[in-house]
Amino acid sequence: MYLALAAFVAALLGSLHAGRAAVLHLILAVGAMPLIFGAMLHFIPVLTRTRTPGAGLGSLPVLALMGGALAVAAFSLPGMTWGRYAGACLAAAAASALLVWSRRRRTTMLGRPHPGLAWYEAALACLVCALLAILASALWPQQWVGLRRLHLHLNTLGFIGLTATGTLAVLLPTVAGRPDPEVGPWLRRNLRWALAGTVLVAVGAGWFSPLAWVGAVLWAIPSGRLGARWLRLYRAEIFAWHGAAPLLAAALAGFALSMLFGAAATVFPASTPTSVFIAGFLPPLVSGAATQLLPGWRRPGAQGDWHVGLRGRLGRFGGVRAALFCMAGIAGGMGQEWGLLLSAVTLLWFILQAVAAMVHARAIPQEKAS
Ligand code: HEM
Repeated sequence: MYLALAAFVAALLGSLHAGRAAVLHLILAVGAMPLIFGAMLHFIPVLTRTRTPGAGLGSLPVLALMGGALAVAAFSLPGMTWGRYAGACLAAAAASALLVWSRRRRTTMLGRPHPGLAWYEAALACLVCALLAILASALWPQQWVGLRRLHLHLNTLGFIGLTATGTLAVLLPTVAGRPDPEVGPWLRRNLRWALAGTVLVAVGAGWFSPLAWVGAVLWAIPSGRLGARWLRLYRAEIFAWHGAAPLLAAALAGFALSMLFGAAATVFPASTPTSVFIAGFLPPLVSGAATQLLPGWRRPGAQGDWHVGLRGRLGRFGGVRAALFCMAGIAGGMGQEWGLLLSAVTLLWFILQAVAAMVHARAIPQEKAS
């Protein structure tokens, strides 16, 4: 988790200087992809009510990380073009293995899985297709422009977007301490819109732009519905000075904004949607999720005063950071470099606060944990 956060900060700062594709893949393929794999290995047994995975599966995030590192090397070092294909193969193998393992878990469990599982599986399928698009470009170099756009959108809206939205829908009510009984039916109803939206944007951006507009409208259905629902049910937690809820809401807003800036880019070429994605969506998502989940990961089992205290320290001024991330995302999307810098500094603030909170919490003995 810390490694991924550090990769984000390094890459956000580096993005002011280094090559664009290398920096983006440092954030997305080295930072986010292994982190998401780790989170899925943790959540899939919960969603299927099955046992925790064996040690062998723990190597999948590492395999994905090696794939991402090869891609970054391919973008940064001369004579390493082969690295993009080798990296795509490694990451596609890891994603396929995770997907097959998840499908098997479905068959061994009793009853129906939580509907969030289908969002994760759809996300993994998007990642596999996105990586196959890179491999396909070796066979059809004349289709490079379309395949690159397919890869980009299947990864950002599909792999990351579906994982994030499926997780946020469950996580925010948990953070607020008031579970929403409608989350399950919401997840079941809305996956089709999000997935169809992703595919249409990806194919449309590659080969036929009107389709991309239809796709963006389809994606607006689940994200708009979720946002409206949150404002109705969790307004007080979202517009607060402290806590994880403002950050998770900022992440949803950042995701919607990156789509809006993506649509705007067809009319205003100065618009940079990937900057909104990496400055205004990923950092609040990762820091908000870390605020809620880190205490449980550090001391699994019964949740007590220790967890509440640590969560409180991690979430201190979460509302201020959420506002800064929103501002950073909008500035980044308008092509302003200071947006990326503001996002990196805000994330660094969270990391330092998290380290201090963890050191403080370690000093509290285990027996006071519950
Ligand atoms: C690990 C294996 C991966 C490989 C080998 C790979 C390869 C590539 C290649 C060759 C490009 C085109 C770069 C260029 O324009 O010169 C690209 C672009 C892109 N990829 Fe990946 N990729 C990988 C993983 C990912 C992941 C996991 C994500 C996101 C979750 C991602 C997101 C993107 C984005 C956003 C772009 C567009 C970059 C830009 O606008 O310059 N990639 N990728």
